Amino acid sequence: PNRIFSGIQPSGGLTLGNYLGALRRFAQKQDEGIESIYCIVDMHAITVWQDPAKLRHATRELTAAYIASGIDPEKSVLFNQSQVSAHAELGWIFNCVARLGWMNRMTQFKDKTAGKNAEASSLGLYAYPALMAADILAYKATHVPVGDDQKQHVELTRDIAAKFNHDFGVNFFPMPEPVIEGAATRVMSLRDGTKKMSKSDPSDASRINLTDDADTIAKKLRKAVTDPEPLPETAEGLASRAEARNLVNIYAALTNSSVEAVLGEFAGQGFGTFKPKLAELAVSVLSPISTEMTRLMQDTGEIDRILSRGAERAEAIARPILDDVYDIIGMVRRK
Ligand code: TYM
Repeated sequence: PNRIFSGIQPSGGLTLGNYLGALRRFAQKQDEGIESIYCIVDMHAITVWQDPAKLRHATRELTAAYIASGIDPEKSVLFNQSQVSAHAELGWIFNCVARLGWMNRMTQFKDKTAGKNAEASSLGLYAYPALMAADILAYKATHVPVGDDQKQHVELTRDIAAKFNHDFGVNFFPMPEPVIEGAATRVMSLRDGTKKMSKSDPSDASRINLTDDADTIAKKLRKAVTDPEPLPETAEGLASRAEARNLVNIYAALTNSSVEAVLGEFAGQGFGTFKPKLAELAVSVLSPISTEMTRLMQDTGEIDRILSRGAERAEAIARPILDDVYDIIGMVRRK
């Protein structure tokens, strides 16, 4: 039986990259009827300093974003990580399974500490991928929809699962598969086509935020870096044009179509024509979501109730799995 797990950090606002690479696809999976568990990974967020009031707000806002993007908290399990202690418990066990050498190869840690003193980053930031493996495996999830940047972490999860099974001579954990599909698995910065669009980029013009208004979206896209060439006939024509390719990918993802289909419509036209069309499209998709988020955020009591209920359901799945893990590794249990 298939089971999906995925998570998003409540560390500030959400970008179009989070939406196209993750949120939108989560709702599609849920609607295909696959058992789905979606998490607001607040324990991951604190691997870098978070202001407590902002963290609380971002957790609720991300819950609203999930729901506004089509996650139905009755159909899917929707909750925040810190309410289900199985994550932290299994995370510790996996800290003892994962090897230092494996962690040293994680590119996200290298990216996050690039240009900084890595010695001053938290131990949690370094161990982050082992907690992510625990998120997935506490539910024995088989499929993990993510953007391209999380692929390495899901591969590490497989390594941890395999080592656990091998070390204890069991066939206990499944090998979860990353599910990276669609035209927007890696949405790039609007200012630099070689960098990923990210909520932590210092330039707000580099990204579209889920909560940007129509004028801001149009302005950011108008100013997006491109080249003077018209759009090509074929996808190969975009090969060495990172910025142009990014905008076409975004258009394709927003319309649920392919790069070829977009080029079929726009080949030969310049970005002066394409950008306003893209802006109109982005606004038509994002503005109902941000309106719904604002509406949901009027009643944070209801959001908190949704998270509590989701946490109870998550716990009911994870606790028996954790009990088995403790037995397998030889912990004497309370009677
Ligand atoms: P996070 O919070 O950085 O991002 C959430 C999701 O959005 C995707 N994403 C993108 N996709 C396309 N283009 C982009 N520019 C872009 N930026 C972000 C990410 O790939 C991700 O799918 N470690 C995870 C959170 C996590 C998790 C998990 C995910 C914790 N535990 C277990 C899956 C399963 C992270 O930092 O995502």
